[in-house]
Amino acid sequence: SQSFTIAIDGPAAAGKGTISKAVAAELGLGHLDTGLLYRAVGVKTLEGIPAITAAQGLTSKDLQRDDLRGPEAAQAASKVAVIAEVRAALVDFQRAFARRAGGAVLDGRDIGTVICPYAEVKLFVTASAEVRAQRRFLELSAKGETQTLEEVLADVKARDERDMNRAEAPLRPAEDAVVIDTSALSIKEAIAKALQEASAHR
Ligand code: C5P
Repeated sequence: SQSFTIAIDGPAAAGKGTISKAVAAELGLGHLDTGLLYRAVGVKTLEGIPAITAAQGLTSKDLQRDDLRGPEAAQAASKVAVIAEVRAALVDFQRAFARRAGGAVLDGRDIGTVICPYAEVKLFVTASAEVRAQRRFLELSAKGETQTLEEVLADVKARDERDMNRAEAPLRPAEDAVVIDTSALSIKEAIAKALQEASAHR
């Protein structure tokens, strides 16, 4: 069957998740937030399980844990994400999802470059670190997290640094990705831009 894949990459809190969900819902595609895989491995390392063991034994149940969205899971995720064997263990699951009938949206850091280099649509969603930290701060505050804006900004910058400078699948736009800078866009405008790109290739 014909598969249709939309790859959405970019740094933390640039709007990838929101855009991916909206695009998938609008076009009737499946959606995989690939950050969840790394977060699930990350939280296991906090419990003392070696990262590679955790990645190789990951189950769909692990992706449903309630503690995957917090800042501890995010930092732990970006630490295990530098390990080549961890990334390798997660490839097949992501590619199988990408090929599912009816098409799929995958969002992450290396979808357009490594996981789905043949994706029909590739977007790189970005924004300034300050704008991203402000958004993530509001999101976390609403959930009752007590991090200050300064702490959130430091976290975002630390993850950017690790994600962009690792040897294995570093965060960067694919050569044929369309870059969407959401710094000055509303959520509605960002979604409209993404849908416009997706529709052009459908
Ligand atoms: O997208 P999210 O912020 O949930 O990702 C958490 C961390 O997982 C990222 O900072 C990155 O280090 C890692 N990640 C990755 N490759 C992906 C998705 C996430 O390395 N495709």
